[in-house]
Amino acid sequence: MSMSPATQATGKTGTRPTTIANSAVLVTGANRGIGQALVEEALARGARRVYASARQPLAHPDSRVTPLLFDLTDAAQIQAAAARVESLDVLVNNAGLAFYDDLSDPAAIERHLAVNLFGGYAVTRAFLPPLTRSRGAIVNVLSAGALAAIPLIPAYSISKAAAFSLSQSLRALLAGQGVRVHAVMTGPTDTDMSRGLDIPKASPQAVARAIFDGVERGDEEIFPDPLSAALAPGWNDGAVKAMERQNAGLVPAGPASFTTAFTVDRTPAEVFAAINDVRGWWSGEIEGRTDQLGAQFTYRYQDVHRSRQAITELVPGRRVAWHVLDGYLSFTADPAGWTGTDITFDITATEAGTEVRFTHVGLVPEDECFDSCSSAWGFYIGTSLRNLITEGAGQPHERVTSGGS
Ligand SMILES: NC(=O)c1ccc[n+]([C@@H]2O[C@H](COP(=O)([O-])OP(=O)(O)OC[C@H]3O[C@@H](n4cnc5c(N)ncnc54)[C@H](OP(=O)(O)O)[C@@H]3O)[C@@H](O)[C@H]2O)c1
Repeated sequence: MSMSPATQATGKTGTRPTTIANSAVLVTGANRGIGQALVEEALARGARRVYASARQPLAHPDSRVTPLLFDLTDAAQIQAAAARVESLDVLVNNAGLAFYDDLSDPAAIERHLAVNLFGGYAVTRAFLPPLTRSRGAIVNVLSAGALAAIPLIPAYSISKAAAFSLSQSLRALLAGQGVRVHAVMTGPTDTDMSRGLDIPKASPQAVARAIFDGVERGDEEIFPDPLSAALAPGWNDGAVKAMERQNAGLVPAGPASFTTAFTVDRTPAEVFAAINDVRGWWSGEIEGRTDQLGAQFTYRYQDVHRSRQAITELVPGRRVAWHVLDGYLSFTADPAGWTGTDITFDITATEAGTEVRFTHVGLVPEDECFDSCSSAWGFYIGTSLRNLITEGAGQPHERVTSGGS
């Protein structure tokens, strides 16, 4: 993985909140505490696969659970585990170490950093390729102590503050690839880690629920328990967040996704209806409803192009968005290149008429299919859809030399 802006900011923007249902989720530190609760919560929410990582062999009765064996400080073990994971939507960096110290011994800081900073960093690097393919999410389980140091565990606080900083930079650097980064600012939770503290604690189950609620809402920072919740009000509109966003703007933008637009003398409602009449303008065999939020439809053109789209946004007269759940293009070395991309139609009333802006978010010039796919879209949007809107009939059956889009 390279995290340099040149390769990270590919212009694959358009991130959506993640849903746990039907996702592949990896949880580190899955054998006890919050990690164990996260595994159960992911299963309860309908995860397709849960990779449960631990340092010791772990057995789970649910067949959706795949145990992985690695120590966060062992690069070879992490690599071997990563080689077993082909597809991943959510990586939860939960495993962590905490012990009391008084800053008298630098080794305490080093030991905390080795697990809580470098450990999570190594796991993130190893699993980033499948997360990038799925335009997935990284969830870093940190601590409220990252924001307000806890002087009983200063070395731990230092490591969590460092991991928070890492989360902020990763968020900016990976946004261009559509990978979201969530930072969980956990407060006292009733696990082995806080056994010695006689204070009110949240249950690991409640914390696990709140973490996935936050991920599904798309919250960048998640405050999953009563103590940390005190930090939540105003957080998103606060000065720290504003400066983080300003700093993120320093990351150079990468190549833009394919986009094309046209303007017609029709109402936004007419344009919206025509876009949703997908069979009227896109060639090939289409199965399933194309005009209902949450519906899925498949597209197939001979053996060349197959894809399955979920309708993720349907705002009458304003916007249509599809998420490509799986794609297959026979003529590219990476046939799944469309998988995880988004296709959006923005409809705007202008003085000149109604503008339709089409964007295939994630189809960027570095993709092998960019030339043929963008020329095919150019035809289907600029000619076929436009004709359907203005003349009542598209040209879905006229092929372009696209290789099949
Ligand atoms: N509990 C709290 O009050 C609290 C508050 C704020 C934040 N947090 C954070 O929440 C996360 C989960 O903590 P928890 O409360 O569930 O703690 P826990 O019950 O002590 O569990 C810690 C987990 O991390 C694993 N782990 C530790 N070092 C590891 C290493 N080098 N390689 C692989 N795995 C390692 C442990 O594995 P083993 O079983 O093999 O040791 C265990 O599964 C941590 O990141 C922690 O910092 C907890």
